[in-house]
Amino acid sequence: MLPLRFAFASLLLTLCSATSHLARDLKVHASRSAAPAAFTEVGPASPEQTLTLRFALDQNDPNGLIDALYSVSDPESPTYQQWLSKDQVAQFVAPKADAVDAVNAWLKENDLTAISSSAAGDWISFEVPVGKANELFGTEFNVFAHKESGKEVVRTLSYSLPASLQQHVDLVHPTITFPDLKLESSPTKSKRFIHDVRVPEKRWNTDIDANSTVCTQGTIPACLQELYHIPSKPVKNNVTLGVTVFYGNEPHYPYLTTFLERYRTDIDASKTNYTFVGWDGGKDVPNPYSVIEGDLDIQYTVGVATGAYVISYTEGNNVTDGVSGFLDEALFLAALNDTELPQVLSTSYAHFENNWDFDITNKICQVYAQLSARGSSLIFATGDDGAGCDFINNTTDFIPNFPATCPYITAVGGTSGYYPQVGWTGSSGGFSNYFARPPYQEAAVSTYLHKISHHDPNAGRYNASGRAIPDVAVKADNYTVYDAGYWAQVYGTSAACPVFASIVTLLNDRLVSAGRHRLGFLNPWLYAKGAGAFADIAAGYSSVSCSDGDPTRILNATAGWDPVTGLGTPDFDRLLKAVGL
Ligand SMILES: *[C@@H]1O[C@H](CO)[C@@H](O)[C@H](O)[C@H]1NC(C)=O
Ligand SMILES: *[C@@H]1O[C@H](CO)[C@@H](O)[C@H](O)[C@H]1NC(C)=O
Ligand SMILES: *[C@@H]1O[C@H](CO)[C@@H](O)[C@H](O)[C@H]1NC(C)=O
Ligand SMILES: *[C@@H]1O[C@H](CO)[C@@H](O)[C@H](O)[C@H]1NC(C)=O
Ligand SMILES: *[C@@H]1O[C@H](CO)[C@@H](O)[C@H](O)[C@H]1NC(C)=O
Ligand SMILES: *[C@@H]1O[C@H](CO)[C@@H](O)[C@H](O)[C@H]1NC(C)=O
Ligand SMILES: *[C@@H]1O[C@H](CO)[C@@H](O)[C@H](O)[C@H]1NC(C)=O
Ligand SMILES: *[C@@H]1O[C@H](CO)[C@@H](O)[C@H](O)[C@H]1NC(C)=O
Ligand SMILES: *[C@@H]1O[C@H](CO)[C@@H](O)[C@H](O)[C@H]1NC(C)=O
Ligand SMILES: *[C@@H]1O[C@H](CO)[C@@H](O)[C@H](O)[C@H]1NC(C)=O
Repeated sequence: MLPLRFAFASLLLTLCSATSHLARDLKVHASRSAAPAAFTEVGPASPEQTLTLRFALDQNDPNGLIDALYSVSDPESPTYQQWLSKDQVAQFVAPKADAVDAVNAWLKENDLTAISSSAAGDWISFEVPVGKANELFGTEFNVFAHKESGKEVVRTLSYSLPASLQQHVDLVHPTITFPDLKLESSPTKSKRFIHDVRVPEKRWNTDIDANSTVCTQGTIPACLQELYHIPSKPVKNNVTLGVTVFYGNEPHYPYLTTFLERYRTDIDASKTNYTFVGWDGGKDVPNPYSVIEGDLDIQYTVGVATGAYVISYTEGNNVTDGVSGFLDEALFLAALNDTELPQVLSTSYAHFENNWDFDITNKICQVYAQLSARGSSLIFATGDDGAGCDFINNTTDFIPNFPATCPYITAVGGTSGYYPQVGWTGSSGGFSNYFARPPYQEAAVSTYLHKISHHDPNAGRYNASGRAIPDVAVKADNYTVYDAGYWAQVYGTSAACPVFASIVTLLNDRLVSAGRHRLGFLNPWLYAKGAGAFADIAAGYSSVSCSDGDPTRILNATAGWDPVTGLGTPDFDRLLKAVGL
């Protein structure tokens, strides 16, 4: 973790004088036309104000990392499941030697001190006053106020790099990327008290249990176990399952106990727990306010992945990554050693892909590729916004959510009901404008596109060549969660995501018992061999109204892959067969 190479490499260099460079060798490196609509410009930032800026350095072989990821994740590959070690990943993503030299020389010349922000040394950060930053990057940092919250941020619309850095620094951050303060300030899901739970009239006549009424109690662990044949017996191995905790959504230990005492009477709640790991100053202190996301995520991992080692990865107040903690959490995990890295990670957070510019989004996605290459199964919720809204450019385009659109993770959408399940109206899905469609889903997605091409009322509103989400779906409605003294019912792909992550964890346990490798990055296997283990959801639709004078955006679930429910809902017994158990 220590930035040794930065401490020593610069000593070898002959340095030019410390006088500041003339603007003549500066060249615009990145720009945007305007601030997002959610912000207004207040005026120039004070020259004395200190900024913490980061450089992403030119990496040794970023394409090689992606090739290596696919070769360990493709079931047809001879190196399938031979995960990379942390050191092997570092060989791909460490900065090139000449990039390190150039950056060290520039730092020294400008009297700046770097600290490493990533284990591989490909990110460094440094503090610099606004006035000096304006000069160094040929820019003007301004104060922008978030209209809704009034919160102010210092950003610019364009910056330049000197000739000596242009080939060596991929980006300077945070500069033109604005934070998604809406996401940080409104963490709660819709919730309500349980009352008047009715027995639905319509039942699905299937071989599961046509007469069961367990799901009429709401979506509880027993309902999920029945729907997806999830085993209730404790795991036999120390399989690990991480849960991302952002924005003060810390879970509460006693609420978990209350939840388990009521809904997992078959296990000893007094001996069942999760552990805590903080990053960026994260503390094991539950939020005194009721913010339900963390409790939902913990209750539906500990409560479904029976006996697994569940870790709450909790964000603190020291986040300076400018992207709501996503970059810092990913870099924190990438710095863990191979035994500490969670085997599965559930993240129930998402934001519209175009909130952040491509370059930083792509960098975050690449850190996910690093974790996936090391054998972690990263599971993300697709979001609760259907086809999505364009709050940045105020167009009628569909905007999917990131990180779900990253091709190196598994994206979970939502269904509703039980016998039958149909596409959930909130289930986010669609096509990335940033990431091209990966080969593993080419057949499934082009079949869908071909099918709707004859009559597509949405044509032109999405980018059909993009990475398509979701990959899979899980029931997303009516989850019963214990929170602050009451039982709440909540909805969302936030709920579906930890359940799918739990299923993957339970599969990992069976695989380990059989002397096999854990699953790792799922998607190449999922589309090639796993699809048959999912019940196709061909009814229902997603729908979202974007309050911009735009008509409601609707996407239909269809036979085969679709942008509401992906490949469908999992069946544990069939998944066991699909992995050869
Ligand atoms: C459901 O209940 C009905 C009536 O009690 C019974 O005839 C039928 O066999 C049950 N079906 C199943 C699948 O258990
Ligand atoms: C779970 O761990 C926390 C933190 O160590 C502790 O306060 C709590 O009592 C534990 N709960 C159970 C049921 O063991
Ligand atoms: C958070 O950042 C502050 C200021 O940089 C520092 O003093 C403090 O030690 C950090 N806290 C943790 C827990 O990392
Ligand atoms: C991994 O890190 C943990 C905690 O820092 C340490 O106890 C353990 O020895 C490390 N394992 C390896 C293989 O480096
Ligand atoms: C299970 O694995 C976690 C993470 O590697 C480790 O911290 C913990 O000590 C292990 N538990 C047991 C019982 O081995
Ligand atoms: C939004 O508009 C800007 C130009 O104003 C353009 O560069 C960008 O691609 C647009 N984004 C989307 C998602 O259309
Ligand atoms: C959700 O639960 C409510 C009762 O709490 C029930 O009226 C409704 O039918 C349920 N919805 C589904 C889709 O199961
Ligand atoms: C469409 O997606 C591709 C990636 O698949 C991207 O290169 C292209 O810029 C996108 N087009 C628009 C208009 O967003
Ligand atoms: C977005 O566009 C719609 C339709 O053109 C318009 O009615 C609305 O006022 C615009 N919203 C913003 C925030 O610019
Ligand atoms: C969704 O299905 C409805 C009913 O079959 C149809 O009218 C509508 O055009 C479909 N929408 C899309 C986007 O395919």
